[in-house]
Amino acid sequence: MNSTLRFALFLSLLVFIPALPLHATPLEKKMKVMKQATKDLKADLIEASQPDKTENLKHVAKLREAAVAAGALEPAKTADIPEAKRAAFVADYKKSIEHLVAEIDELAELISAGKWDAARKQMSVLNQSRRDGHKEFMRERE
Ligand code: HEM
Repeated sequence: MNSTLRFALFLSLLVFIPALPLHATPLEKKMKVMKQATKDLKADLIEASQPDKTENLKHVAKLREAAVAAGALEPAKTADIPEAKRAAFVADYKKSIEHLVAEIDELAELISAGKWDAARKQMSVLNQSRRDGHKEFMRERE
């Protein structure tokens, strides 16, 4: 293969780089932190017979911080919404994230009070908000 051909091949490969999943949006990065925090929470709340309050509150704080940061960003799908409806779409998204943050605060209160069964139930509430949020605000996967 001569060097011109090799260079042309290299350039054509560059075209595909933005399509790789490595290029997570800033929002996806925050969401991934939220995913890890919920995983850590579930592991301790569900599997441990005596959950660790301090550890769980640390996970909740991490979850809350990432959720608040996510609320300052906009979904990638915003670009697909007709311009006239875009502001309302973003406002709805922000309201849904605020709602999630309120649910996270409830979870923190339940953990602080050592109400473990109620805390486990609250995890299902958060999970439902995740599902609803993704249905409404996440781009469909191609
Ligand atoms: C605890 C709750 C949540 C978790 C753990 C979570 C987790 C995730 C994860 C892991 C992704 C990356 C894509 C994937 O792998 O599926 C993602 C993407 C996304 N999530 Fe969430 N999510 C939560 C709640 C929400 C809520 C409530 C909303 C909306 C109000 C939302 C909106 C989005 C959007 C829009 C994306 C796509 C990223 C983009 O547009 O740039 N998520 N989420």
